[in-house]
Amino acid sequence: MTTSDRPGMVMCRPTHFGVQYVINPWMQGQIGRVRNDVAVEQWNRLYEIVAGLTTVAIIEGVPAHPDMCFVANAGLVAGDRFMPSVFRFPQREPEAPLFSDWFADSGFEVVTLGGDDTFEGEGDALFESDSASWIWAGYGVRSSLESHQSLTETLNIEVVSLRLIDERFYHLDTCFFPLPGGRVVYYPPAFDELTLAEIRCRVPTDKRIEVSESDALRFACNAVRLDVTLITNHVSKELRRRLAAWGFDVRTTPLDEFMLAGGAAKCLCLIGRQDAGTSGEGRLDSPIRHTEIQLSGHLLDSGLMNRLFDSVTDGGGSFRVDQFTVGQRHDLSSTARVRVTAPTQERLELILNTLQPLGAVTVTEDTDARLESVTQVGVAPQTFYSTTIYPTDVRVSGQWIRATSQRMDAVIVIDDSDGENDPSARCSLIRDLQNGDRVACGVDGVRVRRTATIAGKDEFAFMSAGVSSERRVELAVEELAWEMRRIRAREGRIVFVAGPVVIHTGGGPHLASIINLGYLDVLLTGNALPTHDIEMNLFGTSLGVDLARGVGVHGGHQHHIKAINRIRSAGSIRTAVEQGIVTDGVMYACVKNDVKYVLAGSIRDDGPLPDTLMDLYEAQAAYAEAIDGADMIVMLASMLHAIGTGNMTRAGVRLICVDIHPAVVTKLADRGSVESTGIVTDVGLFLNLLATRLVDEDASDG
Ligand code: ARG
Repeated sequence: MTTSDRPGMVMCRPTHFGVQYVINPWMQGQIGRVRNDVAVEQWNRLYEIVAGLTTVAIIEGVPAHPDMCFVANAGLVAGDRFMPSVFRFPQREPEAPLFSDWFADSGFEVVTLGGDDTFEGEGDALFESDSASWIWAGYGVRSSLESHQSLTETLNIEVVSLRLIDERFYHLDTCFFPLPGGRVVYYPPAFDELTLAEIRCRVPTDKRIEVSESDALRFACNAVRLDVTLITNHVSKELRRRLAAWGFDVRTTPLDEFMLAGGAAKCLCLIGRQDAGTSGEGRLDSPIRHTEIQLSGHLLDSGLMNRLFDSVTDGGGSFRVDQFTVGQRHDLSSTARVRVTAPTQERLELILNTLQPLGAVTVTEDTDARLESVTQVGVAPQTFYSTTIYPTDVRVSGQWIRATSQRMDAVIVIDDSDGENDPSARCSLIRDLQNGDRVACGVDGVRVRRTATIAGKDEFAFMSAGVSSERRVELAVEELAWEMRRIRAREGRIVFVAGPVVIHTGGGPHLASIINLGYLDVLLTGNALPTHDIEMNLFGTSLGVDLARGVGVHGGHQHHIKAINRIRSAGSIRTAVEQGIVTDGVMYACVKNDVKYVLAGSIRDDGPLPDTLMDLYEAQAAYAEAIDGADMIVMLASMLHAIGTGNMTRAGVRLICVDIHPAVVTKLADRGSVESTGIVTDVGLFLNLLATRLVDEDASDG
């Protein structure tokens, strides 16, 4: 077949067109509502326009295939070759062999993409207009990402994968239209952020038209181009004007009957004469990458499987469950093997990073971690592996070694990787990196051991005073008191992170009595809590408010700054206690009981107190040291210091977060901290309950 034998356009007569099932949002509620005679008339008019500009070959429609007129989904033509679609929905599957036969009979070489990955033809694959040197290809709703790899391999052409995220724009041709001169017309909200960045990087601003929602919803992007004529169902004045400025003449023709099925001009036409650009000699390698992961645990009841799928899709990837074994009883776990595919190695690694905290491990564990050297002090190699709170192993020279000082948002440095001594691995902050440090990069050769969890306990327990009765908070306190007593009995470590609200809500005396009972090993806070605690002791107010009477005191606004000044003159909180200036309160209890406290400063701080660390590096390091070996961390009404602490806490530490704002409690859960309990309540009341409980229990011990 020579080029001139090929039809300019292929169309399929809508003799049997109708809406008989629902496979896209446009078809919803439209079953049986298509007026076929109107549709036929609209199609004829479209045909007239197209046939006036190029040669059109017609495929006859077949009964029982109401969508067959949308011939753009038959497959994709490139030169002499026709690549048939692999339809996503069974309703359209039977169309595939009919189209293949027609193209074979018409002299095309029918080349299947292989495999069963879905690919809906030209609906999702549009050639870049000038050189046809790449294909813009949609995925995420109908066509699969995996099919893009086959497309690259079959045509030896670059395929730019664009992820569609709005079901109404399920095919690329509904929201994206490439024009000669390296131009594109498209509807941005139909794509995810990374895709938009890709489009904007390939096409400069003056070559892009971003259409309005109203144009997009009338299928203005679903246009057929013949030289400088564009044929479409609709175009706004503004869009017409902009296209005219580019030298295109838009002709509209009504196709609303076809829109009932979610299609318009472009869907009804398939380009019959189009060549793939040559990409030189060598074989082109698709950037698409995949890997096999394994997961086990309570995959169904804990919702882990859903979270895994969501993480993959949200990251712009695609998955395929290769194996799934269901635990047959509630105490038995399930295992799954899943193949994860992403548009690039980089995206794959980002996705795998989000899967690791779910307990996913890559099956190919036979590769060593890729190590790269630091070449700029305090800067990691760009593809560094970013840590989670879970125990992490790194494979070096065939050996798996466990990283020390586990924390999230760090990098893993391998010491002695040269083979002379035994290698070791440690988590390091980026800012602490030194030139020559060997840093683990990518995700190969890194595996996360998600802490074994008690069934049902691996999810963040959430207690909200809004939905739960006060009794629920009491129950949480009872359980906490029980755990705290056990930790104290075995001489474990309990850390409290607290904000000034503890003092404002009258919780100070209760916290002091918990300290006096010997439950606290460390108090982590900022400048404000000790300030108001001492203000309370010296002046009977907290930020000028008399807590006993609940009213502001005349001149009270100066109290806290005067309190700070008193401590500054003494030199430190400790000396102020020793000199008898401070005689009661939380800080007094800390000094008297030898409880370590670390005060991390911030830009908000008045004073500050002489004990407050205003160097943040120093403060972070002091916090990290203070929580080392902690069994439990109780976070009380402090967003800044609580989340700061959460960031440096490894998995396996019991976290309790109490705040009146659910957002703070949830934020800590979002940080990936498991083994956590969130309690939404007033912190003063909470401390009152807890102290009373602990005092009573100690008393009943005798
Ligand atoms: N009802 C058809 C479907 O959902 C419409 C196809 C429209 N074709 C297109 N290239 N956008 O599959």
